[in-house]
Formats: sequence, C-alpha cells, structure tokens
Amino acid sequence: MRVTTIPVGLSLLLVGTLMSDRGIAVEIVGHRGASYDAPENTLSSVKLAWKQNADAVEIDIYLTKDHQIVVIHDDSTKRVAGKEKLVVRQTLDELKSLDAGLWKNEKYKDERIPTLAEVLDTIPDGKRLFIEVKCGPEVAPELARVLKSSGKRPGQTAVIGFSLETVEVIKKAMPELQVYWIVQLKHNKKTGQWLPHRGAMIRCAQRAGLDGVDIGKLESVDKEYIDAFKKAGLQFYCWTINDPAEARRLAKIRVDGITTDRPGWLREQLSPSSP
Ligand code: G3P
Ligand code: CA
Repeated sequence: MRVTTIPVGLSLLLVGTLMSDRGIAVEIVGHRGASYDAPENTLSSVKLAWKQNADAVEIDIYLTKDHQIVVIHDDSTKRVAGKEKLVVRQTLDELKSLDAGLWKNEKYKDERIPTLAEVLDTIPDGKRLFIEVKCGPEVAPELARVLKSSGKRPGQTAVIGFSLETVEVIKKAMPELQVYWIVQLKHNKKTGQWLPHRGAMIRCAQRAGLDGVDIGKLESVDKEYIDAFKKAGLQFYCWTINDPAEARRLAKIRVDGITTDRPGWLREQLSPSSP
C-alpha cells in the first residue's frame, strides 16, 4: 500500500493515493484501463494504465454461459469483437476465440477478452482494481472464489455497480471489500433539479452498508455536496473525467478519486509543474 505525505508542513499521511494538483491528494483510476490509447478492458489496456502510473484501474465484468467471469463492458460482443451475441450465451472458449483489439487499432490485432483472474494477476503492489459488476448478484459466489484464489489482499480490489441491489449483496458477502454505488446524475429541465437527491443517495448507500459512491455528470457537484457524503462516512469517486480543468476543480473540492480514460496524461495535467 502506497503512503504519501502532503507537503507544506502538514503531517498528514495518505494511504493509497498520490499527490496531484498542487498538494491535493486524489486517486487516479484508469477507466477500462488506459482506454484512450488501447482497446478497453483488455490486458494491453490494463497493463498500459499501470505503466502510465494509474493508482487504480477500473474494468467491467460479466458472467459467461459456463459461469466464468470475463472482462467486457457491453452485454454483447458486437461492439468490441464484431459478433452479435450476448456474453452470457457464450462459453469462455467461444469468447476467447474472438479478436477484441482490432476494432481499436491494427496494432492490437489478436487481443483477447480477458478473464477477471488474468486482470487480477496484473495488479502491482500498492495499486488496486475497481471491478464494475455489469451483470446481477448471481455473480457473487464466483467473484468471491476468483478473488480468493487470486491471492490479492482485500484492499487491492474494490467493487462498483449501478445496481444497488447487486452491490449490497456483494458487500454483505464480502464485507472486507470496499464497495461503491455508481450513480449518473440526471438534470430535470422542468424543475432544474439534479436527481437522485443527495440525501436519498446517502441514505441508500448507508442502508446498504456501502463504503461510498461513484458519480457521473458532476456539473452540479460542489464542495458542500461532497462534504455531505464525507460527513456521512462515505467516500466520493467520480467518472469519466478527461478534461484537465474539470479534474482540477474536482480534486480541489476533494473527491477521493477521478476515473479517466487517460490516467498518465491526466496526472501530468494535474501536476504542480503543469501550467
Ligand atoms: O466508474 C463508473 C463508470 O465506469 C461507469 O460507466 O459505462 O464506463 O461502465 P461505464
Ligand atoms: Ca465501467
């Protein structure tokens, strides 16, 4: 686990985060790996994110027909491998026969859809993997088995998901893991409100015993908004931020982590030496 000390005389120790943006700590999470540069959710993308010094990597998972956990964002293989068939209707062998890199660039030809176990194997010491569960709670037993046999410490993996029911089941099954609820805020043009309401999200996350939230669409989010989550004992992550000015703003108002397609580049943009 990495430990970094804040400069300017503060004797505060931060666990698992790096400094950026003029002394503010924020965890940089590579979205689907380093997916701006490499085909999302592949081993090349994940390894490139580690090479780019991401603090963490985020990937998406589904269960296959033969109950293996694979790393892919969509429920079908159409977009990344050109085969219009649901992941859940294909065996691991069938999925492994597909090319999941060519769509991005000729140089990634022959890239395969990885298993979760293969991705877990790449996590360097002091870094962690955010596993987004795209399927339902039925994945929990296999997820527990794969995580256990990976030999990774619980602190090296976190689980995220849009389904409150699913993340609650996973947190209950593996309380030692950090588990976060993903929410995309939506603007109601008629009322001017952003939904769901902050208070409702906090209550839901607390009731489910979660460790925090991972929020998308952050226009309405300010420091007071984030402080409310922190006061409630919840961590606050956000996605998907590729704009340095927005990343700087979010780091200043103390989000715990920023998910980005460009982890290396974004960190450079946030560094004290960047104009
Ligand atoms: O970190 C959450 C984010 O990954 C959710 O969006 O569509 O990229 O899975 P998506
Ligand atoms: Ca995701």
